[in-house]
Amino acid sequence: IAWGDPLFTDAPAFNHATLTPEIQRRQFGYNCDFLAYFPLPSNPFVSSYSTRFADPNRGLLAVNHEYTIGALMFAGYDRDNPTLNEVDVEIAAHGMSVVGIYRTASGWRYSRSSNFNRRIHGETEMHITGPAAGDALLQVSHDSTGTRVRGMLNNCGGGKTPWGTVLTCEENFHQYFGNRSALAADSDTAVSHARYGLPGGESGRKWERFHRRFDVGREPNEAFRFGYVVEIDPYDPGFTPRKRTALGRFRHEAAVPTISRGGQIVVYTGDDARFEYVYKFVTDGAFDYYNRANNTDLLDAGTLFVAKFNDDGAGEWIPLTPGHGALSGWTAAEIAVKTRQAADMVGATPMDRPEDIEVNPVNGRVYVALTNNTRRTAEQVDAANPRARNSFGHILEIVESNDNHAGDSFDWEIFMLCGDPSDVEAGTYFAGFDASAVSPISNPDNLLFDSVGNLWIATDGQPRTLSGNDGIYACPTYGGDRGYVRQFLSGVTGSEIASLEMTPNDGALFASIQHPGEGSSMSDPSSHWPDFNLNPPRPGVVAVVKAGRGGGYIGS
Ligand code: FEO
Ligand code: CA
Ligand code: CA
Ligand code: CA
Repeated sequence: IAWGDPLFTDAPAFNHATLTPEIQRRQFGYNCDFLAYFPLPSNPFVSSYSTRFADPNRGLLAVNHEYTIGALMFAGYDRDNPTLNEVDVEIAAHGMSVVGIYRTASGWRYSRSSNFNRRIHGETEMHITGPAAGDALLQVSHDSTGTRVRGMLNNCGGGKTPWGTVLTCEENFHQYFGNRSALAADSDTAVSHARYGLPGGESGRKWERFHRRFDVGREPNEAFRFGYVVEIDPYDPGFTPRKRTALGRFRHEAAVPTISRGGQIVVYTGDDARFEYVYKFVTDGAFDYYNRANNTDLLDAGTLFVAKFNDDGAGEWIPLTPGHGALSGWTAAEIAVKTRQAADMVGATPMDRPEDIEVNPVNGRVYVALTNNTRRTAEQVDAANPRARNSFGHILEIVESNDNHAGDSFDWEIFMLCGDPSDVEAGTYFAGFDASAVSPISNPDNLLFDSVGNLWIATDGQPRTLSGNDGIYACPTYGGDRGYVRQFLSGVTGSEIASLEMTPNDGALFASIQHPGEGSSMSDPSSHWPDFNLNPPRPGVVAVVKAGRGGGYIGS
C-alpha cells in the first residue's frame, strides 16, 4: 500500500494532479512511518480484539503518516508560496491509516472494503487527557476547555499496548508553528516554545498563512497541544483519539509499553533531538488482563521518570514529581506540558538523539537506539555517549535492577557502536562479536524484536554516512552470535526505512519505505518507486515473506 491508494470502496484511485483534501482524507497518507500489526480472529463472531483465535492470514495494520514533502506531491510546488489546496492536502496526508490486510498465495494485500479502515489526519477531533487536560496552558480561542484538539502531527514511531491499542507519537511538531518572535521573548510561553525549537519567523510549510491556529503570535498556546503520545483503538473505527499528557510533551520518537512484575504498565519513550533525554512512564494502576475496558484510562495517571546514565555503568530513573526538590514550584500540568524544562532541572543525561526503544521479550533488557549527534564535542563526551561528532550512532542495552521495569535504578552498557568496521577511526563495537564478520551499519532508528529475541534494526541516514541506501538489519542479542549483525534488506533511493513490524508468528515482515526520492522534485525525481511510470515516487509499505513453498519464519 502506498500514498494515495484508496482506503474505501468509493474512494478515487491515486491521481496527484487532481488531489483535494476531501480525496486525500479517503486515501492512504504520505510518508508512512510506524507500523503496528493487530490480529483479527478467524471466527468473525468472536470479539475483534482477541488474539486467542487469531487468523494468521489476516489482520489490521496501523500506519503513521509522519510528514509531507510538497515538492514530491504537487507539480509546480513553490515552497515560498504554497496554495491553500496544497496546504490542506498536506494536513489531510498527515496522521494515521488503519487498514485491513490479508495474505494471499502471492503475498500480503490490503483490503479496500474492510470495515476497520480509517483515516486519522490533521483535522481529526481528539481528546486531551491526563494531568494537563483543561489546564490554562492548553486553552485556545477555538477550545476554551483545553480538552479538545484538532488533529495530530508528525507522528513518527509508536508502540502497542497489551490491551490492543496503538500508541502513536508526535515528534517534530515544532515545525508547524510559525512566528514565535511575535511573543515577548522573555514571556514564559516564548521561553518554552524556544526550548522546544519553534521557529522565530515563518514555519517551513507556512500553514500559518491560511490557518491562524498555526500562528504562535495569534494562538500562543496551540503548540502546547501537540507533542504527545496519542492512544487509538484500531478495533473501533469510531474511537476518538486521546492525547495522553501524563507521558509528557517533547519530540516523542516512540512509546513502547511493557508489563512490570507488579502489573503496572511501563512505557519507554525518547525525545529525538540532539542532547535530549530518555524517559519512562510508570502507571499508578495495574493492567487488567481480563477486562479490556478497565485499561481505558490507565495511561492518564502515573509517574514520568527521566534517565541519568552514570559513567560507572549504573543509572537512575529520576521521577519528575510536582512539588518536590528541584520541581517544588511546578504543577503536574506544567511538568506534562513543559517536560523538557522540567527534565533540565533534575540532572538528566543529554543523549545522542534517542530514537526507538524496545524491550527484549526473552530477557527483559531494554535497547535504546541513538541515531547520531554530530554536534557533540570532545568535552561533552560521556560513557553513554562516548563519541565526539557521533555520525554513525549507537545502541545502549539497559538492565533494570531486579528485572523490575517499574523501579528507579538500572545498569547499562554499550551494545553496538555503529559504523563500518573497516573504518578504524570510527571505533566500532558489536557486543564483542568479531567486527570483521558483521555488516556495516549506521544510524539505528526503529527497532523490533522477533519472538525469539533477535533485534531487528531499521536505519535512517546511511546515504550520508556509509554511502549506501538505508536498510534493515538483524542481530542476535544472546548466545554465541550476540552482536552478529547482518543486513536483511536494502531500501529505495532517497528513502529511509522508517519502521518495521512482523506478524505474531514471525511469518511476515512489513517495512515502511519513507520519503523515496527525498531531495528531488516532481519534475526530476530521483526515484520512480513503486510504480516506475510517470507517477512521482510514493512512500509505501512493503511486506516480505520467505520464498518457497510453505514460507517459514523471517530470518530462518
Ligand atoms: Fe521521525 Fe526520530 O525519526
Ligand atoms: Ca524514526
Ligand atoms: Ca519499535
Ligand atoms: Ca529518524
